[in-house]
Amino acid sequence: MKAGLLLSTLVAIATTSNAAPTLSLGPRSVLSKHGRRQISAECDLSALDNVTLPIAGTSLPAPGADFFLASITVGRGVQNYTCGNDSTAAPVSTGAIAILYEASCVGVADPDLLASLPGQALAISLPDDPQADLDCGSQPLERAGHHFFTAAKVPTFDFTESGDPELGLGAMSVGVKSPAPDASTAVPWLSLNRADGSVGPIQSIYRLNTAGGVAPATCANQEPGATISVQYAAQYWVYSQ
Ligand SMILES: *[C@@H]1O[C@H](CO)[C@@H](O)[C@H](O)[C@H]1NC(C)=O
Ligand SMILES: *[C@@H]1O[C@H](CO)[C@@H](O)[C@H](O)[C@H]1NC(C)=O
Ligand SMILES: *[C@@H]1O[C@H](CO)[C@@H](O)[C@H](O)[C@H]1NC(C)=O
Repeated sequence: MKAGLLLSTLVAIATTSNAAPTLSLGPRSVLSKHGRRQISAECDLSALDNVTLPIAGTSLPAPGADFFLASITVGRGVQNYTCGNDSTAAPVSTGAIAILYEASCVGVADPDLLASLPGQALAISLPDDPQADLDCGSQPLERAGHHFFTAAKVPTFDFTESGDPELGLGAMSVGVKSPAPDASTAVPWLSLNRADGSVGPIQSIYRLNTAGGVAPATCANQEPGATISVQYAAQYWVYSQ
């Protein structure tokens, strides 16, 4: 039902942009809207102008007034933690690694489906081929980039490999954290701000609709110094300037 609805919406969007191709340029020029070109025949990224960041009810700040929504991706990977010798202590976060999948067109066509994607992504494994699409939400999501932490523990989002290489690379610092609705299993929602080391137009990134990723409550039964990897998925909303 959802998939049929999405397909018909996408067909409607494709038909509209065929009828009026100049609409794909959006209100500003393509040059001033980095990463906002048409990424597929079915989806015009300028429609992201009409998509609202779903942060109502959280403590997360609104995006800067000059920023625009450049991309919505779904991240699927692991959150890593480690333990010392104290079995009563909580594991300490050491970073994360995830593949980012393009979901902007789902966000435009079907916000409810978009909201459900992290839960659906968590229920499936990453494909064996790291370049392959993620078959999630009744449709394949294309790889758009990857998320990792640098040796200095800087959360980094690399889109230089994507169909939107103009998005560049965001080296981010954590801004505000807001507990997920299901905080016992899902890592917090976050805002991340551009930091030194960024290349390209990314200004802020929001991690929303998280699924999974929470560490065990204590280090009981964990080997000291070993990495504990906990499967997770999340939406990453990317704002540029
Ligand atoms: C965004 O919404 C406005 C007002 O509803 C509409 O006129 C415009 O065509 C929409 N833009 C896109 C790209 O869908
Ligand atoms: C997290 O753990 C995985 C193994 O599960 C490893 O491949 C990855 O490099 C680790 N990343 C970080 C940032 O610790
Ligand atoms: C655990 O304790 C041993 C002995 O004191 C020490 O050599 C080791 O570095 C500790 N491991 C961690 C991960 O703290």
